[in-house]
Amino acid sequence: MTTVQYVPGLENVIAAESRISAIDVEAHSIVVMGYDLSEVSLKASYEEVAHLLLFGHLPNELELRNFSRQLEDNRSLPREVYDWLRLMPSSIKPMDQLRIAIPMLAVFDPEVEDNSHEANIRKATRLIAKLPILIAHGYRIARGRELVSPDPSLPHAQNFLYMITGKKANDFEGKVFETSMNLYVEHELAASTFAARVVASTFCDIYGAAAAAVSALKGPLHGRANEKAMEMLLQIGQVDNSERWIRASLERSERIMGFGHRVYRRGLDPRADIMKGFLKDLGERIGQTKWYEMTVRIEELMRNERNLYPNVDYYVGPVYYLLGIPIELDTAVFAAARMAGWAAHAIEQHGNNRIFRPRALYTGLRGLRYTPLEQRS
Ligand SMILES: CC(C)(COP(=O)(O)OP(=O)(O)OC[C@H]1O[C@@H](n2cnc3c(N)ncnc32)[C@H](O)[C@@H]1OP(=O)(O)O)[C@@H](O)C(=O)NCCC(=O)NCCS
Repeated sequence: MTTVQYVPGLENVIAAESRISAIDVEAHSIVVMGYDLSEVSLKASYEEVAHLLLFGHLPNELELRNFSRQLEDNRSLPREVYDWLRLMPSSIKPMDQLRIAIPMLAVFDPEVEDNSHEANIRKATRLIAKLPILIAHGYRIARGRELVSPDPSLPHAQNFLYMITGKKANDFEGKVFETSMNLYVEHELAASTFAARVVASTFCDIYGAAAAAVSALKGPLHGRANEKAMEMLLQIGQVDNSERWIRASLERSERIMGFGHRVYRRGLDPRADIMKGFLKDLGERIGQTKWYEMTVRIEELMRNERNLYPNVDYYVGPVYYLLGIPIELDTAVFAAARMAGWAAHAIEQHGNNRIFRPRALYTGLRGLRYTPLEQRS
């Protein structure tokens, strides 16, 4: 056997060839299908970005109309999924609803076993359309609130926000939310995307890849950092309390959620820049500037003390809070946005596949002899 070096956490290991996205740390940019995500996130609709990921190009007017129509037509769930949502305890968490309900959606998809490129695109479109319904309705059912039906006049992101909050956002708030979804849509081989590709590499269907990805995203080191960052800010409570709170937390060797990143390491995540600007603007518009002041103060402290920079989740947490999104939905919203990226990767994996099957460096014992049960102490 050829020996290869063991790299914990596969840091800097190239594990796949991909035409979907690249992180260019030096240029401070994320390239998605050839475009700079920072620019596209601000200028394009979520539908355009999702189309770019699934079809490899930005849609023309007709393509966009058709794609948007398909998303609208799929804004529904099977009755059995609603029945199941109602049977679950009210304490169920949105990410647990998602990781159970995605395989349920597979059961009701007649194309589940068809892994052809065309069927994969259709299934991906259905998943992108249905995840927001699942999240918004699942949350409202669990918390005993009335369901908000999708509004066909609203675009994908704005409708999602409306179904969560029950209120029509103004244009600026809608734009902020849509941009956040665009920024979340794709980020190379993050743990969840890698999980999706590993599952797809067995030729399991796209629903299986999405369920694996959702489970990976649930962890606080990955997607749940947005919820954790906002919970931290609420605990700190006041701007003047920030320094004392963070120092005490660092002294206890705790991680400050929303800081650090495997790829950016010692530099700012370009997505965080954009969300930071929105936090400032949104706070000023609604007269709640303390979250921005607090985040900036902590950012400075973390840079000076630990040379650590915020990632996108650090600023998304308070932005979603100001938009009226319940904190416990933050990671699920991230999942709904990333669905297009996961799908693009699963489809790419199916199109040029070799099963993932790495090796482990065995550090256990050898040569032990079996002892019968009655002789064991
Ligand atoms: C993102 C993350 C998982 C990357 O992990 P990683 O690449 O394995 O980095 P490491 O865990 O090796 O961290 C390197 C060093 O920075 C420190 N560090 C990293 N993130 C930190 C954080 N958020 N708070 C405090 N210290 C942190 C580690 O303790 C470690 O210090 P050491 O070398 O003295 O032991 C990590 O930075 C983290 O846990 N961040 C908080 C969760 C988060 O925001 N996740 C969202 C990512 S988009």
